[in-house]
Amino acid sequence: MSLLFFLFFLFFFLSFVVSSSSAQSYPYGLSYNIDCGSTTDSTDPFNATWLSDRFFTGGTTSIVSEPLQFHHPQEKTLRFFPLSSGKKNCYVIPNLPSGRYYVRTFTVYDNYDGKSQSPSFDVSVEGTLVFSWRSPWPEELARTGAYSDLFVFITDGEADICFYSIATDSPVIGSLQIVQVDPESYDAVSDGQKFILVNYGRLSCSSGQWGPGFSNDTDHFGRSWQSDSQFRVTDSGSPVRTMSTTNSISLTGDSHNYFPMKLYQSAIVVGGKGILMYNLDVDAKLDYLLWFHFAEIDSTVTKAGQRVFDIVINDKNATRVDIYKEVGSFRAYTWSYTVKNLSSTTLTVKLVTVAGAALISGLENYALVPADVATLPEAR
Ligand SMILES: *[C@@H]1O[C@H](CO)[C@@H](O)[C@H](O)[C@H]1NC(C)=O
Ligand SMILES: *[C@@H]1O[C@H](CO)[C@@H](O)[C@H](O)[C@H]1NC(C)=O
Ligand SMILES: *[C@@H]1O[C@H](CO)[C@@H](O)[C@H](O)[C@H]1NC(C)=O
Ligand SMILES: *[C@@H]1O[C@H](CO)[C@@H](O)[C@H](O)[C@H]1NC(C)=O
Repeated sequence: MSLLFFLFFLFFFLSFVVSSSSAQSYPYGLSYNIDCGSTTDSTDPFNATWLSDRFFTGGTTSIVSEPLQFHHPQEKTLRFFPLSSGKKNCYVIPNLPSGRYYVRTFTVYDNYDGKSQSPSFDVSVEGTLVFSWRSPWPEELARTGAYSDLFVFITDGEADICFYSIATDSPVIGSLQIVQVDPESYDAVSDGQKFILVNYGRLSCSSGQWGPGFSNDTDHFGRSWQSDSQFRVTDSGSPVRTMSTTNSISLTGDSHNYFPMKLYQSAIVVGGKGILMYNLDVDAKLDYLLWFHFAEIDSTVTKAGQRVFDIVINDKNATRVDIYKEVGSFRAYTWSYTVKNLSSTTLTVKLVTVAGAALISGLENYALVPADVATLPEAR
């Protein structure tokens, strides 16, 4: 009994120590933003520098058919890999210190070739298949393009991002970004090197899309955050409301995840029967890492027990959360969970109110894609 109490107390104390070193400077400065298909460097409306196209092994450049529809210069040009360039083409980014990297691609078709047929192709990172594009793409996607991202360890000094043509289709890429991140982010210490974390949803509750490429808000890792609204299941028995604060939230902006403070300054709160539900689209037969973000931003909550809820994942009760009890108010609290070998193509996350009203600030979902064994040092 007393030992448990001591451990809890020590943990609490440690988290206070961490908060005093809030907003550390970010020690991983290396990043490349490559404007595929462009011959010139440029600066976007958010003051990010884009480099002219480089580090590719082949292919040809083109321009989307409706350039005025795209906001940023780096979205208007693209590189494509016709069959004459071979079945496999890559971007090979050299001289990268060993470590963990965030890789983001912008993929767009917009009928650049006048054939009205979006292509089928696969993309690998460090030898592991990460994205599969299959024709026909949904109408909206083909027109406006999409960002995709992941976290990967690079230990061979260069990032290999490769495109594989399916049948006679030409793979395309609009832009490519790579940002060095904290090697211990997202609990990578133990066996993180064995997996690539592929983004299947990075939700910011009750806000629009924000972060690098979408707003002036910063995120040291380059992560952008999307609105949770289209993933939230509406239920008239459990109406939701939004809540936000301009107060500063501590325990943000620190190693190892450097989550931006803005994430915790808005939230969704559920009323009525108190069940808040999200449906996340996934691919079956993989493990998924869910990362939950909370902060008590209601100043009327002043003690433990006032806001308590259970997190139920695919109908399994995973944990009980009392944000105030864990960290107090106006402090960030995160909790993560791995869903093993999912058999369905939907992942359901429910917050079930026990006391007060369940609240959530953000939710990330990553597929844990096993890194190609051939790239692991122990494989011969
Ligand atoms: C972002 O910041 C720059 C410079 O501070 C400003 O010129 C620009 O209008 C801002 N963009 C948006 C979308 O707020
Ligand atoms: C834009 O970035 C440059 C350096 O990359 C910096 O010197 C300049 O102050 C920035 N401008 C704004 C408005 O933030
Ligand atoms: C859900 O699990 C948590 C922790 O395992 C437990 O404290 C809580 O009582 C459970 N909820 C229900 C409704 O059983
Ligand atoms: C994953 O689940 C499927 C059935 O849904 C099963 O056939 C397979 O063996 C499982 N794989 C692992 C690694 O547990």
